[in-house]
Amino acid sequence: MTETATLKIWRGEDPAAGRWEAHAVPFERGQSVLDGLRWIRVNKDPSLAIRFSCINANACKECMMELDGETVYACTARLEPREMTLSPLSNKTLVRDLVTEIAPPAERFAAERIAVKEKP
Ligand code: FES
Repeated sequence: MTETATLKIWRGEDPAAGRWEAHAVPFERGQSVLDGLRWIRVNKDPSLAIRFSCINANACKECMMELDGETVYACTARLEPREMTLSPLSNKTLVRDLVTEIAPPAERFAAERIAVKEKP
């Protein structure tokens, strides 16, 4: 029998109006939490918002999220055959689902600055 990991994931764009979704993911020893999230996007729900760049080099820091209330890099946190609760960073501005604004303000693409320039 194949083991599964259950990823309980916070979804939404408004911190006060989100919801939890649980997805069973095939478990293989050595996989990362990010591997599980990418499996969900490919096989279950392509609308799940996650962010990553270096996959597992622990270099880009873009995959930071909370796993069972602790801040982790999803690409280095190991998938386990149990329920794992994933939520966006609670101390950062929410973008959507598991994505938060982590870039320093000076390094962000500033949609609001572009919008301001476009105003008459
Ligand atoms: S994907 Fe780059 S640190 Fe996790």
